[in-house]
Amino acid sequence: MKKYLSLSETAEMFNKSKETLRRWDKEGILKAVREPVSNYRVYKKEDIETLLGNFLDDIEEDNTTNYVEPENEYSVLELFAGAGGLAIGLEKAGIKCTALNEIDKWACQTLRKNRPLWNVLEGDIKDFNFSHLKGSIDVVTGGFPCQAFSYAGKKLGLKDARGTLFYEFARVVNEVKPNICIGENVRGLLSHEKGKTLQGMISILDEIGYRVAPIKVLKAINYKVPQKRERLILVGVRKDIEIEYNYPTPYRKIYNLEDALKKGSLYKCDVPKSDGAKYPEYKKEVLDLVPPKGYWRDLPLDIQKKYMGGSFHLGGGKTGMARRIGWDEPSLTLTCSPAQKQTERCHPEETRPFTVREYARIQTFPDEWEFSGSVAQQYKQIGNAVPVNLGKEIGYSIIKFLNEYYNSSKPK
Ligand SMILES: C[S@@+](CC[C@H](N)C(=O)[O-])C[C@H]1O[C@@H](n2cnc3c(N)ncnc32)[C@H](O)[C@@H]1O
Repeated sequence: MKKYLSLSETAEMFNKSKETLRRWDKEGILKAVREPVSNYRVYKKEDIETLLGNFLDDIEEDNTTNYVEPENEYSVLELFAGAGGLAIGLEKAGIKCTALNEIDKWACQTLRKNRPLWNVLEGDIKDFNFSHLKGSIDVVTGGFPCQAFSYAGKKLGLKDARGTLFYEFARVVNEVKPNICIGENVRGLLSHEKGKTLQGMISILDEIGYRVAPIKVLKAINYKVPQKRERLILVGVRKDIEIEYNYPTPYRKIYNLEDALKKGSLYKCDVPKSDGAKYPEYKKEVLDLVPPKGYWRDLPLDIQKKYMGGSFHLGGGKTGMARRIGWDEPSLTLTCSPAQKQTERCHPEETRPFTVREYARIQTFPDEWEFSGSVAQQYKQIGNAVPVNLGKEIGYSIIKFLNEYYNSSKPK
């Protein structure tokens, strides 16, 4: 680590906002200092390390759980199922998968290979009608890809959203009328079209009879996932149900790369060997110079300029570029392609991207879950997934909601 870290870099280390860091500065929890050369406000490495140490010690003491036992058999229809990250998570929590829809043939092969009994419906969601499932499914879930709507009137209705994949999600919810529906997306949906896209989705769900819970972005690191991934969750509860949905309570313990790849509390053995991508020679030569937890700023200045090209002068932290992950930190968000420019997440000791199995572990897939297709297809399926452990915690929150709902609707 360098001697001083900027405000953004320090905020990222603690996974806190810049505002929290400014407050910590005022309250004396972590004081900022002036960097001798630039005179910018920065944080001393040793101060960060001391506080981070206390932080982690504190977190270790956490042994609570969100686990709830299902009091009935609950069922889910999973749309945009991919390679099954969310579906396995829900299954682990105790929710039965009635059917899954997915367009990608390799992802469908993955689902069928691992769960021959699952009803995998391969093809474009537009071509499937689910009316026959009306009233028989508890939950409809789906990570619909985010697309803009075209606005005719002030308030968006279901018909106005035609042609988008959110329309298909809402259409299926309307056909099936589950007790609860859960959409999953990237944080960027919050600001997409200045928030209008998300507002449009909320008003469509309202129109088809679903009350949307306050939107939340869940941080995977708070749910037993050794990765700083975030997922926006959109929860709709059928309006005739008065029970409130509550998001899963975050855990304080944070898992890191060592927990993902080595024998320990997350996995019973070290990560099994598997195929993996390689860096092109020029990238390997550059990344060889980056220490664990380091990134492009740790390179000699001439190499920084050459490697970053135009981005060098653009400013901003770009802490994901030429990044080597350390054993004692969670991985940065995995993408669909491990050698992608600007998002290198190099192995801590070897100069290479994570292998397919390492990728799967960072997303908390079980080692038995096999992926179909070429290595590139496998990385894509894993990079697209909801981390399994996050899916499991969302599953517990759904079970808690459904238990309360069925208890409240029982004749007294
Ligand atoms: C973000 S991924 C979902 C990941 C999944 N929830 C998981 O946890 O593994 C979105 C998926 O939607 C699928 N998809 C995109 N367009 C589709 C369509 N028209 N019909 C069905 N699936 C589609 C993609 O192939 C991709 O696998």
